[in-house]
Amino acid sequence: MQKMVSLCKRRSFIFQSSEIYGGLRSCYDYGPLGVELKRNVKDQWWRTVVHGREDVVGIDASIIMHPRVWEASGHVSGFTDPLVDCKKCKGRFRADKISTETASLKCPDCGNEDPKKFSEIRRFNLMFETHLGAVEDSASVVYLRPETAQAMFVDFEVVQAAGRLKLPFGIAQIGKSFRNEIVVEHFIFRSCEFEQMEVEYFTRPGEADKWFEHWKEERISWYTGLGIRPEKLRFREHSADERAHYAQACFDIDYEFPWGWDELEGIANRTDYDLKKHSEASGKDLTYFDPQTHEHITPYVIEPSAGADRSVLAFLLDAYTEEPPPPGTKNPRTVLRLDPRLAPTKVAVLPLKKNKPELVAVAREIVRGFFEKGINAFYDEKDSIGRRYRRQDESGTPFCITVDFQSLKDRTVTIRHRDSMKQDRIGIEDATPIVADKVF
Ligand code: GAP
Repeated sequence: MQKMVSLCKRRSFIFQSSEIYGGLRSCYDYGPLGVELKRNVKDQWWRTVVHGREDVVGIDASIIMHPRVWEASGHVSGFTDPLVDCKKCKGRFRADKISTETASLKCPDCGNEDPKKFSEIRRFNLMFETHLGAVEDSASVVYLRPETAQAMFVDFEVVQAAGRLKLPFGIAQIGKSFRNEIVVEHFIFRSCEFEQMEVEYFTRPGEADKWFEHWKEERISWYTGLGIRPEKLRFREHSADERAHYAQACFDIDYEFPWGWDELEGIANRTDYDLKKHSEASGKDLTYFDPQTHEHITPYVIEPSAGADRSVLAFLLDAYTEEPPPPGTKNPRTVLRLDPRLAPTKVAVLPLKKNKPELVAVAREIVRGFFEKGINAFYDEKDSIGRRYRRQDESGTPFCITVDFQSLKDRTVTIRHRDSMKQDRIGIEDATPIVADKVF
């Protein structure tokens, strides 16, 4: 994990926010490579669950919603974690995370097990509260959303009616969520500001189990289809006392992170809980008129809920490889074997020598050709060719194109493949189609 964190900083993927002021706990910034990777993850998710299906549409809702949304959804009263302080070392923890098999507490930092040396367990609401408008009174309290899901329930009727959508159908959204987590941990795994990629899939109640299985399979295939090794993924069913207040059934897709198996995505059967709660609280009819049975029904909801940041972390960790030094070199090779569709830079274009204007001119012409096709290319002329290859390997760039003296004679270049390090000689005109074939 430490190697990944330092590579992320070195290559400007992800680093601590506000570093010049000492950094801010649990807040991270995505640099030039990180933002491309994260955008690619989100684009792939959108392509698969929205553009790749007839039955899902997208929305982009406001982060701040009417405060009554969170009362009706149960978040104001129920979205809490149990907070406990260790009086010995002054550490602060989630009580459920540090309780032992015998239900007593053990401090993970100092090992304290004396019940008298722990504070009372207090319930702590995870929602960030702020005020809308100039006056900070109780009437102006609003919350930063802790999940994107509620907008899909609140907007259910308007989206369904406008699109004349027939059950089953889904509403999808990607966006920021905020939780005042007691424990922030493992780099971007658990932070206070993160992005979710969620679908609320509305079904007839009797068909909910079938669609639950469908989404479990769809979602795990999405990760493996983008290169995560299947043996690093598993389903884990939530026990009854672990499930969220709204869920009848819930499975996590877990990834085997360096600290052990942990949640990547949750897939829940939220039943008709949310639509009914919002209908009661708002007085609006949130039922669906079923043209088959001529009845008004409240649909059940299957919710695959993924974290964009956790997905980025899993894709990075799974792609990270250290290899013995390639022939003729001394240092081990670090490679990010990212799927070309996720790779931040798709291709690097390298003139063999920077002080040869004729090589530079051809390399620049090739870069322009990639840009015209919307392919994120990178021009690099600094250092030896070997060092430039290493930098691109570490950044996950799937292709390097080298312009050499032969290129000037016959308009051919070499294309180097990141994973195999194999080099092929190709015509300049073939470079764009070869790369485009793999990166879209
Ligand atoms: N709408 C359901 C929901 O929000 P969740 O299991 O609390 O369910 C879904 O969150 C996903 O959001 C998680 O599987 C994880 O990927 C991501 N997530 C949740 N809390 C997070 C945090 N504090 N930091 C980063 N990602 C988080």
